[in-house]
Amino acid sequence: MGRLDGKVAIVTGAGRGTGAATARLFAREGARVAVADIREDAAESVAREIGEAALPVALDVGSEASWEAVVGRVRDAFGPVTVLVNNAARLHMGSVEETTAADFERLVRVNQIGPFLGIRAVAAGMREAGGGSIVNVSSVDGLAGKNGVVAYASTKWALRGITRVAAVELGRDGIRVNAVCPEVGSADMIRPYLPEGVDPERIIPRMQPILGTQRGRRIAELVEDVARVILFLASDEAASCTGADFVVDGGNTCGRIIPGAPGA
Ligand SMILES: NC(=O)c1ccc[n+]([C@@H]2O[C@H](COP(=O)([O-])OP(=O)(O)OC[C@H]3O[C@@H](n4cnc5c(N)ncnc54)[C@H](O)[C@@H]3O)[C@@H](O)[C@H]2O)c1
Repeated sequence: MGRLDGKVAIVTGAGRGTGAATARLFAREGARVAVADIREDAAESVAREIGEAALPVALDVGSEASWEAVVGRVRDAFGPVTVLVNNAARLHMGSVEETTAADFERLVRVNQIGPFLGIRAVAAGMREAGGGSIVNVSSVDGLAGKNGVVAYASTKWALRGITRVAAVELGRDGIRVNAVCPEVGSADMIRPYLPEGVDPERIIPRMQPILGTQRGRRIAELVEDVARVILFLASDEAASCTGADFVVDGGNTCGRIIPGAPGA
């Protein structure tokens, strides 16, 4: 018995990173899964590796027409979509003064309008199917401020708002909508912004100082932790959860250690 037996899922941005880990885990747990990415070759390679439970689809999450085509293809191949993971996103790093309106708008289209269009595209089918689960991948940057991510953080805060509104509107149809806020994702997303020669494996797990046990772990393992929380929310085990944020950050946003004070 798989935890997602009988589910039909779309995972966006599944050509690599967190989306690919989620798609693999979903298939192992019995779901049929559309591996959706704007990079068709990447979607195909992940789907090929998964096998017949996977369907590779080219999807630009910022395009309404693209969503319509993909939801139709998935329904024809596997049946009505009952799980949607809005995971695809882009990062732009720059200070408030360096970031242009064009940089900002590019991220809003993918990270904010993308999930909104995804929810619109699957809602009617989920209602007809008797319910479903939508998981929006936000970030710890949607929970707290950090230098250099004004456009990205804005979209991730917005996604938590979209999550709540959609949960309120769709709950009566048995459609649950939750957000996941990870600290860690694929190193590929942040690599272009790291100084030359810096190995993400050496810095990222160390960014989680509360849970000391995180320090020796690889990025891929931390990404698996994110995928497992997405799996829980996609499954019927989360039947009572909607409109909520699930923080996956090793405690990083829960508070801070004050050196020298008792308990440090
Ligand atoms: N990387 C991190 O450090 C980190 C941290 C916290 C949260 N997150 C979040 O986790 C999620 C997954 O990111 P990741 O770390 O795997 O990054 P990633 O860059 O490895 O993966 C993102 C995927 O989305 C795809 N994509 C980009 N634009 C698209 C579009 N318009 N339509 C469809 N697909 C598109 C890319 O091709 C890529 O395969 C994102 O929502 C990201 O914001 C990442």
